[in-house]
Formats: sequence, C-alpha cells, structure tokens
Amino acid sequence: MAVMRIPGHDHQRPREVTLEEVRAVLGDCHLCPLGETRTKLVFGVGNPHARVMFIGEAPGKNEDLQGEPFVGAAGHNLDSLLELAGLRREDIYIANVLKCRPPNNRDPRPEEIQLCSPYLREQIRSIWPDVIVCLGRFAAHFVLHTEAGMMSLRGNFYQTGHFTVLPVLHPASALYHREWQQYLEQDFRALGQWLADHPAQEGM
Ligand code: URA
Repeated sequence: MAVMRIPGHDHQRPREVTLEEVRAVLGDCHLCPLGETRTKLVFGVGNPHARVMFIGEAPGKNEDLQGEPFVGAAGHNLDSLLELAGLRREDIYIANVLKCRPPNNRDPRPEEIQLCSPYLREQIRSIWPDVIVCLGRFAAHFVLHTEAGMMSLRGNFYQTGHFTVLPVLHPASALYHREWQQYLEQDFRALGQWLADHPAQEGM
C-alpha cells in the first residue's frame, strides 16, 4: 500500500520519559473546566513498549466512571476489531486526545485539545510506537495536522517521521452506522497485514 509522507515531521527519538513521569505531571489536572465535571481522569492503559498505540477522542460515560479508555460499547467493538489485526489489549497502548469526559459526550473544544494535548504528545514520545492508529477524526486531525474528512483519510498509511499513522473510523460510529463496520474491519485487517510485513526489530 502506498505510504503518504507528511512534510516537516522528521524527528529522532527524544530523551526517554516514562509514562509514570507524564502521569505525575498531569496530577489532579484542572487546566480546563472538564476537571470540575469529570468523575475520573482517564490517562491511558496498556503496554508501555507497544508497537501500536491507539488514540481515541475522549472518555465517555463508562470510561469516566472506571478511569480506563474504551471500556464501554465502543470498547467492545474495538476488542473485536483488534482480533482481526491479531492484537490483544495487552499488546497495545490506548489513550485519548482528551483525558476527561466532555459533559454529555459533546465534541472536544479546540481550547481543551490545546491544553490537554501536551500530555498525549508526551505519551507518544514515551511509548515511541511504530504505528499510531487514530480512532476517529479528533485523533486523526491532531496527529496528521489536517482537516480532511475521515472517509478520505481512513485506511491509508501516512508517514510522519518515525511514526506510521493509520486513521480509521471511530469504533463508536459503526454502532450508529452499521454499514461503516465493514470499513473498520477492512482497516484493522490492513493493520494486521502491515504488522506482519514490518516485523519488530531485534532488541526493540
Ligand atoms: N470513545 C473514545 O474516543 N474514547 C474512549 O475512551 C471511549 C470512547
């Protein structure tokens, strides 16, 4: 599959920062008003050495209550899609663009993304995955610096310096648009194929 290069994104692995350090800096964050309305801050979970990092939009109701990403209905769909890629939750790392739930699951606001995204950037630097899978438009637009629509972005592999980026539809979207599930399934199979074609380097 053709890989599209994003100009201006060549970067080397920076100084190692641990996820614990990032979490400690985030603390009991109240940088934006979502700090007042959240139940739990949802930092992210998974393998700190994952080859594949998934980035969602923001915690929903169940995530806000449990403090973990993708534990509700969208998470169940994600689990079935991971199987198609030959992945298990323990292989991957999952985080969101926003660490706190927007009331009534409204869209994240630009100022919230601006305040919260340094933590996501540090999580990416810490994990230094081979592939970043963007679940939905907020993650895709943040990572790829584009405003393009998801139907044109989804299923294509992009190269941003070290990282390969695969934008896919949000797993929750197929719960409302059943006909979109086929695109998700196709893209997760393509992810599995990409991983098989690019075996992990020795010692990585
Ligand atoms: N949707 C998201 O984008 N993230 C979650 O953690 C749950 C649902």
